[in-house]
Amino acid sequence: MKRIGVLTSGGDAPGMNPVIRAVVRSAVSFNMEIIGIQRGFKGLYEKEFLELNSRSVSGIINQGGTILKTNRFPEFKNSEVRKKCYENLIEAGIEGIVVIGGDGSAKGAYLLYSEFNFPVVHIPVSIDNDVYGTDYTVGFDTAVNTAVEAIDKIRDTATSHERTFIIEVMGREKGNLAVEIAVACGAEIVIIPEIKIDWEEIVKSLKEQERKGKKSSIIILAEGAGKAEVFAEKLKKEFPERHIRYSVLGYIQRGGTPTYMTRKLATLFGYHAVKMLKEGIYGYMVGIKGNEIIYFPLKKVVCTTELPHLEYLNLIDYMAV
Ligand code: F6P
Repeated sequence: MKRIGVLTSGGDAPGMNPVIRAVVRSAVSFNMEIIGIQRGFKGLYEKEFLELNSRSVSGIINQGGTILKTNRFPEFKNSEVRKKCYENLIEAGIEGIVVIGGDGSAKGAYLLYSEFNFPVVHIPVSIDNDVYGTDYTVGFDTAVNTAVEAIDKIRDTATSHERTFIIEVMGREKGNLAVEIAVACGAEIVIIPEIKIDWEEIVKSLKEQERKGKKSSIIILAEGAGKAEVFAEKLKKEFPERHIRYSVLGYIQRGGTPTYMTRKLATLFGYHAVKMLKEGIYGYMVGIKGNEIIYFPLKKVVCTTELPHLEYLNLIDYMAV
């Protein structure tokens, strides 16, 4: 394989740039030409191609966002659009492609591979850590650390004023990010979309903590489970004497300087993805299981979902005594 493409797709995540850097530099070291496709699958459809080289990716290992730009492109669900994308790849002489993004992007990558037998490798990059087949996605570690830093500050106010804070974090469909943040912050309660909210249980738990003399608490709420503002109102009705506040962390979780773990994973995944294309291993996602880099079939990635670690939820209960 002499000429490959790379694109970033879906929501941005810290680590996309270090992945692009690793892909480009690995391709160069394997004597391959490397074409950047801008704005994800939309750019593939509209032929937004640009030649990349080692210098194009200097100074980006420490940058959040993606130099290739990204977006969500629902039109890719249309088979005519996908056919055009495939034809554009052939016309540009691109022989294989590295798709960088989350679970939605993995689906796009799989369709290109399965429908046209086109050589595709996917790299899981998402703050949500919800891609089946890998223990970690690139960007998750940075997003958790960003949230933890912010919530530690909020905790100071919660403790000093003896307040209850509801903190809404990202995670439209999955609670993995919320659970990990809750464990790392020592939150008293975590609420995620996968588990039906037991309002009585929440009230009971807060009352029990109050009985033990604990007057401040942090509740982590994944955005997919509801709005922090609505929860705060509801809680105020149950605890009229309490000072209840809420905070929405929002997009600060998506940006920022990638951590060491994010950069390391990005570099390993980027290198392995290009090596796979070079060695003729297609239709796979590169991932990590334990300490090992693995090549995981894209078909399994797109057909399976997983609950967050439920034992972590117990851990939150045990620690909130
Ligand atoms: O996929 C990552 C994610 O951050 C989700 O947790 C969040 O719900 C979503 O993206 C929001 O993305 P956007 O507003 O860019 O569509």
